[in-house]
Amino acid sequence: MAHADNCILSAHCSLAGGDKCNVLCPSYVACHGADGLGGRIGSANVPAEYRRLTLANSPARSDQAAAYKIAESYADTFARQFGSTTERIKSLYLFSFEPGTGKTTTAAALINEYIIRHYIGSIQRNRQPLDRPAYFLDVNAFQTDYNAFNRPRVPDHIAEPAAARYYAQMTAATAAPFAVLDDVGVRSDTDGFRGDLHTIINARVTEGLPTVYTSNVPIEDLARVFDARLADRVRDMCGVVSFVGESKRGKR
Ligand SMILES: Nc1ncnc2c1ncn2[C@@H]1O[C@H](COP(=O)(O)OP(=O)(O)O)[C@@H](O)[C@H]1O
Ligand SMILES: [Mg+2]
Repeated sequence: MAHADNCILSAHCSLAGGDKCNVLCPSYVACHGADGLGGRIGSANVPAEYRRLTLANSPARSDQAAAYKIAESYADTFARQFGSTTERIKSLYLFSFEPGTGKTTTAAALINEYIIRHYIGSIQRNRQPLDRPAYFLDVNAFQTDYNAFNRPRVPDHIAEPAAARYYAQMTAATAAPFAVLDDVGVRSDTDGFRGDLHTIINARVTEGLPTVYTSNVPIEDLARVFDARLADRVRDMCGVVSFVGESKRGKR
């Protein structure tokens, strides 16, 4: 059945493609929602075009072979969320100067891999999977919401939903056991927004929560975007993965 192509669990599922593989499958609903847009992938705010993405089917995989080798071993450490060892899951900083090299794509594949392992691992241990084990924060969209309620003379019907969205994103990004912060440090940020981004990162590092960052600022230069102390916090327990080559945008 074509349904298996739509499910992030299919590579891990013995029923995939068989006659029990259908849209009413509780595991499908748990990950994708009954409408395919919800579930844990939806509540993680994974961008719609990346909801079926894994490390194995990522379009960036062949061009970024070295990065994907690291990403694969990194995903293996996601088992540590169940605490069999005291070792923590590190953070990862996906970097290239060039846009369009697959950083966001890879971050989305990693968050999906985390959700898959969280879901399956919880079921295997007879535990209830968290409703939001992971959260994808699109830093650009987050800043757009910030600006929408911090500009003078913004009408209430625009400012109020933007503020509500903004604080919901902030809460989710602070609390999620695993998070992607996509595109940190691209725009010159206002102090208020930068402060909120600092608060999220600072809280995550303090709690030892792993974060995958994507950026086109070298990690050594982060102090120019953030302050020096926060740049240091990002580097805490964080591996850097370089993405090579030129932009693949629009080539698919
Ligand atoms: N190596 C690649 N081969 C084919 N398509 C790619 C590759 N890398 C990225 N893409 C595609 O290019 C677009 C931009 O990729 P994205 O992950 O957003 O790049 P970045 O975050 O590095 O700017 C996406 O549609 C993605 O699927
Ligand atoms: Mg990107």
